[in-house]
Amino acid sequence: MTIALYPGTFDPVTWGHVDIATRSARIFERLVVAVYDTPSKNLLFSTEERVALFRESVRDLPNIEVTEFSGLVVARAKSLGAQVIVRGLRSGSDFDYEFEMAFMNKNLAPDVELVCLMASLPYQYVSSSLLKEVIALGGDVDSLVPHHAVEAIKEKMALEAQS
Ligand code: COA
Repeated sequence: MTIALYPGTFDPVTWGHVDIATRSARIFERLVVAVYDTPSKNLLFSTEERVALFRESVRDLPNIEVTEFSGLVVARAKSLGAQVIVRGLRSGSDFDYEFEMAFMNKNLAPDVELVCLMASLPYQYVSSSLLKEVIALGGDVDSLVPHHAVEAIKEKMALEAQS
């Protein structure tokens, strides 16, 4: 069985991430979405919340499972028996970032392969930070973020505004 790991911060999940996960789940028998617990960026959601929001977005896809992880991504791939790491590529700048990580990961775990899928056109310029900014300013991003995630962002922002 080919197991693929799709790691990321997912703060929160967007339709762009769901697009990559859904397409990967058609290629690989099992896809494990791995939510990184300690990225070096400011987060809106806890790890548990990010996992729950992604899980809700793919609940109709039986071969996708969503978990959290800490430590090296290649260590998580090995512990799962995943042969492949999946990443989405949007613009040219994603390529440079992926290139650097891919070589480091290959150095650490030569038998784990990287598969990059091109982000679909509507999601080429989407990022979680940009979407959070637009929602905070009252913009409509329903075509780019699952409805439950939009609601969670608004709720979290309202709570933060109160404190
Ligand atoms: N659609 C929409 N948005 C996308 C996207 C897509 N297809 N692909 C990426 N993005 C966005 C994300 O929302 C994110 O936006 P943000 O920065 O505003 O939050 C941004 O692009 C980058 O996300 P991503 O590509 O998922 O990278 P990441 O920084 O979230 O995750 C890890 C990077 C977790 C995979 C990487 O840091 C890692 O592997 N960490 C584990 C530790 C480790 O092994 N380090 C050594 C690696 S060599």
